[in-house]
Amino acid sequence: MPSMPARPLNPYDPPPPAPQERSAVLCGLAGWVPPHVVTNEELSRRLDTSDDWIRTRTGISRRHFAEPGQATSDLAVEAGRRALLSAGTEAADAVIVATTTPDRSCPATAPLVATRLGLTEAAAFDISAVCTGFVYGLASAAGLIAAGVAERVLLIGADTYSTIVDPQDRANAIIFGDGAGAVVLRAGRPDEPGAVGHFDLGSDGTGEELIMVAAGGSRQRSTPGDVGPQDHHFSMQGKEVYRHAVTRMAASARTALALADYKADDIDHFVPHQANLRILRSVAEDLGLPPERCVSNVESVGNTGAASIPLALADAASHQTIQQGERVLLTAFGGGLTWGSCLLSWPALSQISRPYDRGGVPAS
Ligand code: COA
Repeated sequence: MPSMPARPLNPYDPPPPAPQERSAVLCGLAGWVPPHVVTNEELSRRLDTSDDWIRTRTGISRRHFAEPGQATSDLAVEAGRRALLSAGTEAADAVIVATTTPDRSCPATAPLVATRLGLTEAAAFDISAVCTGFVYGLASAAGLIAAGVAERVLLIGADTYSTIVDPQDRANAIIFGDGAGAVVLRAGRPDEPGAVGHFDLGSDGTGEELIMVAAGGSRQRSTPGDVGPQDHHFSMQGKEVYRHAVTRMAASARTALALADYKADDIDHFVPHQANLRILRSVAEDLGLPPERCVSNVESVGNTGAASIPLALADAASHQTIQQGERVLLTAFGGGLTWGSCLLSWPALSQISRPYDRGGVPAS
């Protein structure tokens, strides 16, 4: 599949050359969640909420939390190792980690992950696009491969929201979980199964305050004034975010479909960022897709940020829900605001291991 088409941003530019013959092709996939399962009942014991409220408003039954001392890189390494195994390789010349919860604000998490996976001297960097990070990461990996900068890229979406959400904040503590999902992309042809393309990416910085961690960056450090403990916690204006998520995801999905010259009905599986079941259902309905074509694992893992799409893919592929040759549409939305979509046809992948037990029993 060709990548993003040239858009006439500047009419004085010379006509752009045709897309190259190199594409990023999906060849490995895995997900990993920490074993500690936190159920709605458990949250209800310490917060003013209930299993019924959480299920009805979000579709979430349980999520996994990292153990004390466990950081995002620890989850990323587990998913990355399994993805390399699934691709039948130990090699990658670039490692990208999409995350909102890096181990430290400096340096990036990806170099450490690369080293721990034995990928010494690989190019390694983080992507910060909140819950859209995985789709932005796919576009970046596709660009590195198309440009001949890399032959094989390990892309990991990993987040530990339990480290930034205030455990007493009932509006957010119920939504987010920790996890990691990873894919391996190799250089291939645009017309082969697994080729990712037809990207739509976008952002709107006027929505900066709808999803944020106020403290910890240069804005707060360079601004005189007190910083309260709450400023280090994740905040979200749920209702507004809900509205933007539905509108932006549907519009972005439509743009990607149009770029590929597909109708919604040509899509076998719609894999949206697992924000909240009501959001996913509304977007699928808006696109005219029947609910059974919308892949969702939010019930078992909650919203895992940048990990959510690869985790949902790994879960669906491990249960053979997605079959070779089927068309898959990925769509994400996140803080920034950011959004993005892309398409691929499902390749032949070796057996994907199940990232967790759907019944809530910790995976080994
Ligand atoms: N348990 C019980 N009550 C809760 C609650 C909880 N966990 N969280 C909030 N409430 C209360 C509110 O305080 C409010 O009470 P009030 O009417 O007395 O003021 C009431 O429930 C309704 O709150 P509201 O925020 O209007 O609920 P909602 O239907 O919008 O659902 C979200 C809240 C967060 C579930 C919903 O807005 C949402 O899913 N937003 C998108 C979040 C998301 O997916 N973000 C990720 C995007 S990347």
